[in-house]
Amino acid sequence: MSAPNNPYDPVRVAALDPATLDAAVAAADAAFAAAQDLEALKAARLAHLDRGQVAQARREIGALPPAAKAEAGKRVGAALAAVQAAYSAREAELVAHRDAQILVQERVDVSVPAARRPLGARHPVELTMERLVDVFVAMGWEVAEGPEVESEWMNFDALNLGVDHPARQMQDTFFVDPPDGGLVLRAHTSPVQIRTMLTRTPPIYVVAPGKVFRTDDLDATHTPVFHQIECLAVDKGLTMAHLRGSIDHFVRAMFGDVRTRVRASYFPFTEPSMETDFQCFVCRGGDEACRMCGGSGWIELGGSGMVNRKVLQACGIDPDVYTGFAFGFGIERALQLRNGVSDMRDIVEGDVRFSGQFGMAV
Ligand code: PHE
Repeated sequence: MSAPNNPYDPVRVAALDPATLDAAVAAADAAFAAAQDLEALKAARLAHLDRGQVAQARREIGALPPAAKAEAGKRVGAALAAVQAAYSAREAELVAHRDAQILVQERVDVSVPAARRPLGARHPVELTMERLVDVFVAMGWEVAEGPEVESEWMNFDALNLGVDHPARQMQDTFFVDPPDGGLVLRAHTSPVQIRTMLTRTPPIYVVAPGKVFRTDDLDATHTPVFHQIECLAVDKGLTMAHLRGSIDHFVRAMFGDVRTRVRASYFPFTEPSMETDFQCFVCRGGDEACRMCGGSGWIELGGSGMVNRKVLQACGIDPDVYTGFAFGFGIERALQLRNGVSDMRDIVEGDVRFSGQFGMAV
């Protein structure tokens, strides 16, 4: 049936002519082949398949006498099939081409390393200090702090380090300009003892972690800036037994279940004073060739003692009523020992690749 807006015009019945049909098929073939993408192919299909001469010829069949219809129908059908086939073939080609292009354009190389933003890591000195502080906080001790730029009086005098004490010489302590201004970079955390005793009344149980400064050159075992953790207890009836018990607790938290021993020593601010060693956690005293302890079976930890009466007095605490003990240990050294860090510079430089090995705890 003819379309209502496209009435059959007997003048154009020539579309059914075999030569015309062949030409129409050839034109469609050429148009499809010329289409470089699916967009262009669609336009060519509209012109040559949906509305072209072959379609026109099909409509003309209806006007033919019945005897001519069969033959003309065959011819038009073959022409249509040829155009349709040409279209389908070209479409398949162009689809394949487009898909191949998409694969190239949208290619993702999963082997390229991603632009990763590495996570930071907390510094092992911080982590260690926090863990040790926690051990004492868990026993009810409080955290105390003091300034890193400290008065000479707090750093020395109040701790019974007289003006002629060797530790006051320039080679140990950083003096803040002007040299007679009475300020130093604190050389230990012991001035926090003084600050604490001046501001609190016994019973006092404090743990004071912090940065300290000494005029050492940076090398495998020294650093001019390092950290100490200081413990101070002042109460009625405290004895060296309490001191040893507290030190043992500290050592176990840091190094595990090892024994400690003490040796007589001297600090102006403690009397009696002692040096604490702990049993080598590598050989436990059983290996004369042990590289950790040099075969002695003991590793030196740091100083401690009963708070000197003079220091208690300087802080307004009656030494006949109260006694106290204190100890102060270096964190970097403990870390070097426990984790086998052979070069102090690794601890100081703060490379995240070093810090990361101690875990990413926050
Ligand atoms: N302040 C001492 C030091 O830096 C250690 C210490 C602390 C000794 C407390 C006795 C008591 O070496």
